[in-house]
Amino acid sequence: MNAHASSLETSHTAHDPLAPVFAQYPLPVVRGEGVWLYTADGRRVLDLYGGHAVAALGYGHPAWTKALAEQARTMNFQSNAVPMDVRTRAANKLIAFSKLPVQSVFFVNSGAEANENALKMAFTMNSGRTEVIALEQSFHGRTAGAGALTWGAAKKWYGFPRTPFDVKFIARRDVAALSQITSATAAVVVEPIQGVGGAFDLGAEYLKALRKRCDETGAVLIFDEVQCGFGRCGEPFAANLYGVLPDMITTAKALGNGFPCSALLMMKKAADAVKMDALGTTFGGGPMADAAIEATIDAIESEDLLANVRRVSAYIRKTCIVGPITGHQGAGFLTGLISKVPASQLQKALLNDHNILAGTSGDPNVLRLLPPFTLKEAEVDLLSAALKKLG
Ligand SMILES: Cc1ncc(COP(=O)(O)O)c(C=O)c1O
Repeated sequence: MNAHASSLETSHTAHDPLAPVFAQYPLPVVRGEGVWLYTADGRRVLDLYGGHAVAALGYGHPAWTKALAEQARTMNFQSNAVPMDVRTRAANKLIAFSKLPVQSVFFVNSGAEANENALKMAFTMNSGRTEVIALEQSFHGRTAGAGALTWGAAKKWYGFPRTPFDVKFIARRDVAALSQITSATAAVVVEPIQGVGGAFDLGAEYLKALRKRCDETGAVLIFDEVQCGFGRCGEPFAANLYGVLPDMITTAKALGNGFPCSALLMMKKAADAVKMDALGTTFGGGPMADAAIEATIDAIESEDLLANVRRVSAYIRKTCIVGPITGHQGAGFLTGLISKVPASQLQKALLNDHNILAGTSGDPNVLRLLPPFTLKEAEVDLLSAALKKLG
């Protein structure tokens, strides 16, 4: 989820049964097709936000829909207490998709839960150490451990009386600050391309220096690729894009194309530390989630969608630095368009006047684009034309 749904919210009414914790877009969606949303009041809206980076295949993808319907008919749920082919297939497909030396996969249900389990593994691997380092502007989720590592959470919403471990935040992309990682540090958790932080890429040079410092101090390196991973950056993971191998990767969001699921991917050192009963879940790795993961990977591969992400994201960077946009950052379909007017104002004008949904971020001048991997150049042309009019 995103703490920055911006100024487009409508207020909750006294009769709303839902907890009033989400600012909401004035967009009563009833249906979706491809990259388009259709609303109850008859609008057709181009979705460049993908439900917080989730809708990898867009909406109503035929093969994904069929795979879920078939899995629902044959076996909708059994827990990890029984072996299921679909679970093993999903794990093997995810490992092959990653093109990384992943040794073990633990399926859970959300980004935050994957991060909690990664942290638990890190403390197991580094028992006795009590500190975790995260980066300024990071977002890792709302639970006790993940929230403790989320920049600004303590002031805004953390709520727990204390964090479960010692936390230190260091400046992002600052190689000198890596000296704060020491032999007291159990783990370092980073988003290689920060999402909520403004589609801000840390870059290969910084990540290589980070890997080196973790090796020197024995700190476990965790890449939170909940938002930037699973194809969104145009490669399987940002680890591939930057050529830096962490000890663990967490991934979620696009992974199930909207069916809730997440995964903890463990390289050898982490996989070797896993013990029977150390981790657990009821729903994680359920067959519906597995079928969703398998179908999403199949579609990404058969439709060559990573190449599409690379090509069309380059096209965005080439054609959308117009009107109020002065630059870009991020990678692939986690693109930040740097705006000279507040991004929330731009977001509102794009939605109200041009039927285009884009996101904001923690950086007030970054408009964040997280479109489905199926987005085409012709649809980007609608954005660039709208931006020119807003200039
Ligand atoms: C990088 C990152 N990590 C973790 C999370 C938390 O994921 P979830 O909301 O599925 O718990 C998010 C959600 O926005 C995220 O962007």
